[in-house]
Formats: sequence, C-alpha cells, structure tokens
Amino acid sequence: MTSPIQILPLSTVFQILLLTLLIIIKSLASSPEEKTPAFFIFGDSTVDVGNNNYIDTIAGNRANLPPYGQSSFFNKPTGRFSDGRIVVDFIAEYAKLPIIPPFKQPSVKFINGVNFASGGAGVLPETYRGIVIDFPTQLEQFNTVVSSLSAELGEAEARELIATAVYFISIGSNDYLSYLGSPQRQEVFTPEDIVGMVIGNLSESIQGLYEKGARKFGFLSLSPLGCLPALRAANPKADGSCFDDVSELALAHNNALYGVLLSFGHILTEFKYAFSSGFYSWLHEVIHNPAKSGFKDGINACCGSGPYGGVYSCGGNKEVSDYEVCNSTEDFVWWDSFHGTEKLAEKIADMLWDGPQTSIGPYNLKGLFFNNEKSRVEDIVDAKENLEAFAL
Ligand SMILES: *[C@@H]1O[C@H](CO)[C@@H](O)[C@H](O)[C@H]1NC(C)=O
Ligand SMILES: *[C@@H]1O[C@H](CO)[C@@H](O)[C@H](O)[C@H]1NC(C)=O
Repeated sequence: MTSPIQILPLSTVFQILLLTLLIIIKSLASSPEEKTPAFFIFGDSTVDVGNNNYIDTIAGNRANLPPYGQSSFFNKPTGRFSDGRIVVDFIAEYAKLPIIPPFKQPSVKFINGVNFASGGAGVLPETYRGIVIDFPTQLEQFNTVVSSLSAELGEAEARELIATAVYFISIGSNDYLSYLGSPQRQEVFTPEDIVGMVIGNLSESIQGLYEKGARKFGFLSLSPLGCLPALRAANPKADGSCFDDVSELALAHNNALYGVLLSFGHILTEFKYAFSSGFYSWLHEVIHNPAKSGFKDGINACCGSGPYGGVYSCGGNKEVSDYEVCNSTEDFVWWDSFHGTEKLAEKIADMLWDGPQTSIGPYNLKGLFFNNEKSRVEDIVDAKENLEAFAL
C-alpha cells in the first residue's frame, strides 16, 4: 500500500499547475460541456440540399442528374443546385457541425439541426405553388421538429437547443422571378406591392420563429438577380447587359428586409442577427471584375445552353435537354443558368462566417455560433495558443 500523502517533486507540481491552467483556459475557449449550436436552414435552391428529390415536382426543380455534384467533394448529384457544396455546407463545416441533412431524408436526425429548403420556393405560398415546399410549409415542418425534439430530449433540453441554434434564411428570389414571369400578376400588383407582401410575410415568419424560441438569425440577402445568366439572356435590351429591372426588385427587397431587422433588433429583446448588407454589391463586383476574386468568367453559366448558358438545360431532362459543360469550373462564377459554383459558395460562406461589419452585421455567423462578438472569441483563442506555446 502506498501512503496517502506523497511528496511530489517540484517539477511535477509545476506540470500539474500548468495542466490545470491549460484545462481552465481550454474550457473558456471551447466550453466542452456546451455543444456546438444546432443549425436550421430555410429557403430556396440557394440552400436546398436535396429536399426536392423527395417531393412531386418538375425536372427543372431538381438537381439530381449529372453533372450536378460533379466536383470532388460529393462526386455525384445530391439535389444541390451546384457542381458541389453550397453555402450552408461550408458554414456547417466552419461551425464544426456535420453536413446538415434535408428534412425529407428518411429517418433523419434533428440533433444538429436540419435543412427545410426547397428549390423554387418563395416566401409567398402562391410562388410556384404545388411544385415546391413553400416557406409556410417549411415553418410547419419546423414545428414538427420542435415537438419531436421535446419528446426525445425533454422540454428543457429541447428549449435550450432551440434557443442556442442558428436559423439561416435564404429566400425571396423566386417570389420576384415568378412575379416577373406572370403578366396576370403584374396587372394586379405593382412591384412595390410584391416587395411589401414578401417582406410582410417574411417579417411575420421571423416573429413566429422568435415566439417559438429562436434567437439567432442569419440572412443571406438577394443577389443582383438580373445578372444571373438566365436573366441576362432574357433582358429585352438584348445587349448582353444585366436585366436591371429584376436587380432593382432584389435591391428593394434587401433594403426593406434590413429595415425590418433593425427594428426587430430594438423591439425583440433577445433577437440577434447577421444580415449580409454588403453581399449584393460584393457579388456585383465579382460579376463585373471576376479576375479580382480569382474567376475568369462572371457572365456565362458553366453548364447550360444558348446565350450566356442562360437556357436552363443543365443536367438534361428539362424542357431543353441539350447542354454543354465547361472544362474548368473554377473559372466560373455561375454553375448553371440560375446558380453559382461551389467556388463562389465558399467565398460567400467565408464572408458570412467572419466577414467585417461592412459585409455582414451586426453579428457575423461566427459570432452567432459562438454566442459572442468576433473579437472576444479570438482573444480567448489567442490566449490559449500563447499558453500552449509556453507549455511546449
Ligand atoms: C402575405 O402574403 C399574402 C399573399 O400571399 C398577402 O395577401 C398578405 O397581405 C401578406 N401579409 C403581409 C403581412 O404582408
Ligand atoms: C473542352 O475541352 C475540349 C478539349 O480541349 C474541347 O474540345 C472542348 O471544346 C472544350 N469544351 C468547352 C465547353 O470549352
């Protein structure tokens, strides 16, 4: 038997002290008892990871045929409207979460969050009605997830998961595209009416999520829609320029949404958000000066047909089935007539994750996930790294 009291050599005491200190600092930096927040995603094809593979829809609303998904990451079509990963895949990676699965996937687990997005979906239920999972339906699906989490984890733990999760919303483009494609609706509603209806419904939905316990919201604002290859090709000016009337709707939407979020920030006491106020102008710049961002072509779709690859035929099995695919995807901003490449998605995700206030604010996604201001998290990590260097 060894005596309970031992005299330790001084070097061992020092090592133990150092270790204790390291453990304390480490727990400050990564709080091991707290897991990474869950990630819930709502929206359209910009964030759909395959829900449309499970619904009754038209071929153009699916991305389940090659060459979709051809990049090395998946190396097969997954339902993502991209040659590979999309923005939310990169964000999940940065947050140290696994890839967030589609809600419709059989026996999917909700513990890390889930993705409700559906290609073609709009904020308004009348947008492409019958062939998409519209936003109100996505919100109803979220309610079933809350019930199932409560049953699985118990009320208190489920409430904690809901309150700490990040809710990412990327939707609106299809409301404007479907409006512009419908002469009947244009007779009844002005563009201002449509923006008002979209923003009104979106605001109510955000409030609805807040009432359910959601606290941290991320928004990808709309891109210069008139510069998508499909819209460039549809520009009545036919001079190869972006279709400005369409982009203006996107700008009006972004400004109105920003206004709503600013007021929510004042009214709803625990509401935290990341809004990509610099995204539109950033992407506009990438499109017009692609070389500055490491691209060669900001105009043409890598996959498609017709002028600018604007005929939405990528993957075939669509209204027009002949298509061409470029040889070097990494040169292109646009993958198909409506959607960006994996390379573009990574750049967008980088901006959303830890971009400066001029791109995304008042929080960036890193700040939302770590429940802290960006600089504070970095201070702690720096302190930890310094100490580890000292310990070596
Ligand atoms: C929501 O959209 C509907 C059309 O689907 C519209 O009639 C209604 O006024 C909108 N609600 C708000 C609050 O804007
Ligand atoms: C791809 O490269 C091949 C061989 O160099 C060439 O024949 C073909 O035209 C290229 N395709 C495109 C779409 O650029």
